Amino acid sequence: MNDNRPIGVFDSGVGGLTFAKEIKRLLPYENIIYFGDTQHLPYGEKSKEAITRFSVDITRFLKQKDCKAIVVACNTATSNSIDAIKEAAGDAILVIDVISPVAEKVAYELRERIGVIATKATINSGAYKKSIRKYNKHVKVVELATPLLVPVIEEGFANTPISKAVLETYLANKKLEGIDSIILGCTHYPLLQKEIEQVFEGKVDIINSPLIVVNQVIYQLGREEKLAGKQIPTYEFYLSDYTDNFLKVAKRFFGKDIQLTEKRLN
Ligand code: DGL
Repeated sequence: MNDNRPIGVFDSGVGGLTFAKEIKRLLPYENIIYFGDTQHLPYGEKSKEAITRFSVDITRFLKQKDCKAIVVACNTATSNSIDAIKEAAGDAILVIDVISPVAEKVAYELRERIGVIATKATINSGAYKKSIRKYNKHVKVVELATPLLVPVIEEGFANTPISKAVLETYLANKKLEGIDSIILGCTHYPLLQKEIEQVFEGKVDIINSPLIVVNQVIYQLGREEKLAGKQIPTYEFYLSDYTDNFLKVAKRFFGKDIQLTEKRLN
């Protein structure tokens, strides 16, 4: 059995594209509907109530669009609002978050000291530490909020001296001393992956969260016999507030003929 309905993917901005790109690469027949909530960005600085309200509105929108699955491609929405998102989606829609598959996988690997960098709201929730320790009580997890990175990326300053200076400052933080692995706990951060590798001089293993999460999408859709059959896929992009940088990043990731639709949900 196949199910050719779309997979919904959402984030506060361009970050979720790093996961949508991986869905496109590994599941080339799947239709994707992407929602970037640029009107309310950055989520990482908002209250749990606000993040939950935005996330539930987007979930309802993707449900109206008849998505068979929703990938919550935002760590901040996952760590603060996953229960409300699942409730809004209902039982018939598969909801896949970006934290639990990564936490489970790294917990069973030979890692001793794992660093997590993420938004303030994700770090304050302690979601990674809690999820990893559910599976492995011995691994040390150190968490650091790096709130300047999202605005740097959304304003188009990735791979510039500005991003380099911000990263060098954050990653020199004492908390991260001696880590063997790092989780980029915000979906925006893979856009800085090369620079992060350079700062660590290749000595720290960067966990490939998009790959782990999309493998989970494949597993869950496969188990429910909901993978798409052979078709030429469509990619729809909705933004709650138009930004040039989103278009630039989306074109780089998905090809030149990207159509953006502005869609305010409230
Ligand atoms: N990309 C989001 C995340 O994974 C949040 C960025 C933000 O809006 O602060 O946490």
